[in-house]
Amino acid sequence: MILMSVLDKKHIIVAVTGSIAAYKSADLVRQLGTLGAEVRVVMTRGACEFITPMTFQALTGNPVHIDLLDSSAEASMGHIELARWADTILIAPASANTLARLAAGMADDLLTTLCLATSAPLAIAPAMNRLMWQNEATQSNVARLQRRGYNCLGPASGEQACGEVGAGRMLEPAELVDGLSRLLTAASAMKGIKLMVTAGPTYEDIDPVRYIGNRSSGKMGYAVAAAAAHLGADVTLVSGPVALAPPPGVQCKKVRSARDMQRCVLSHIADVDIFIAAAAVADFRPTTFSEQKIKKGESEQLLTLTANPDILRTVADQVDGPFTVGFAAETQAVEQYARSKLVDKKLDMICANRVGGTEGGFESDKNALDLYWQGGGEALPMGKKTLLAEQLLVAVMRRYQYKIKPSN
Ligand code: PMT
Repeated sequence: MILMSVLDKKHIIVAVTGSIAAYKSADLVRQLGTLGAEVRVVMTRGACEFITPMTFQALTGNPVHIDLLDSSAEASMGHIELARWADTILIAPASANTLARLAAGMADDLLTTLCLATSAPLAIAPAMNRLMWQNEATQSNVARLQRRGYNCLGPASGEQACGEVGAGRMLEPAELVDGLSRLLTAASAMKGIKLMVTAGPTYEDIDPVRYIGNRSSGKMGYAVAAAAAHLGADVTLVSGPVALAPPPGVQCKKVRSARDMQRCVLSHIADVDIFIAAAAVADFRPTTFSEQKIKKGESEQLLTLTANPDILRTVADQVDGPFTVGFAAETQAVEQYARSKLVDKKLDMICANRVGGTEGGFESDKNALDLYWQGGGEALPMGKKTLLAEQLLVAVMRRYQYKIKPSN
């Protein structure tokens, strides 16, 4: 049996920037080609000081792309076409200067323009002196790029070209090939899956200045949306009012009340394969909305509440509806309440979390989830919500595939 590499026939742009590690990129390009990848090389002017374009042209059999405003290059494969052609772009080596330009969103050369114009997954392999790497400016640029979805491969620690020892060496070509393979495998794990996730609180207005809300920050739901997009899913995020920016590659629909959320979910639910309800939807709303600000008046005020629709239940009740995952926020008897919600709402899976404690739950960057389904369960221990979201999706995909193909 011939085992095919995930890189086989993949369109990969290797972008080389000005760093002494540029010489290693020649071997990187060769190794990618050996595994069946179609490689095109983009170089910055700085990179050309370290290695000649001729080397990459000979290794790839393709012209090397250097200038943004080169009419002959634009006539063959222009920057937008290149951006569309790429299945992934790996910037190796990524110099401190290039990281800063990318973080600032500049488009002053071919490489930075490509990165703005592509929807392909992007990776950086930093290479620089250890103090440059440690510098707060570089660290904040890398963090900014990671928030935008860039994958950071390395750097490694060790002896540097400048004679110093520390973190800043570019990963070896074989390690980069491995990292890229993992990235492309992950990027297609949920390819073709339409996933909808709800996140955040809902606000139930009392009058023009007051509302009933809750402490949900949206972090859990947004982490699930980001992780699913990272795995290649087509993601719709229906979000209550939160202070978070929508993750890259996710379609975000902003709503306010439970009824807004229900309308939005139901109008986009057709064709959704997996529905995950991480939102803390208000169970009740004020029965009447006062058009005018309610005056302080008496020392006691009565507020009459009406039950909101249960969005999760409505989705789970659909004939041929999606694989449905609910959350259960509980302060006590967590398993018992979660399991009864699983059965009562006819869910495929429920994720129980303990709230009101000192760690995890609402607002925190961390959480722990106990997953339950008919006949089974799995515990995901306390960890960052970003990591937890990935672990949750692995479990969801396993159960989803089992549901559509029980023989698996
Ligand atoms: O947003 P964070 O600050 O990161 O916090 C994360 C979280 C604690 C909000 C999240 O992990 C969580 O537990 N979300 C569900 C909270 C909740 O409303 O739980 P519940 O047990 O009351 O509801 C059960 C399920 O029914 C939930 O999936 C909920 O989205 C859904 N529901 C509830 C009421 C309603 N009217 N419609 C619904 O769809």
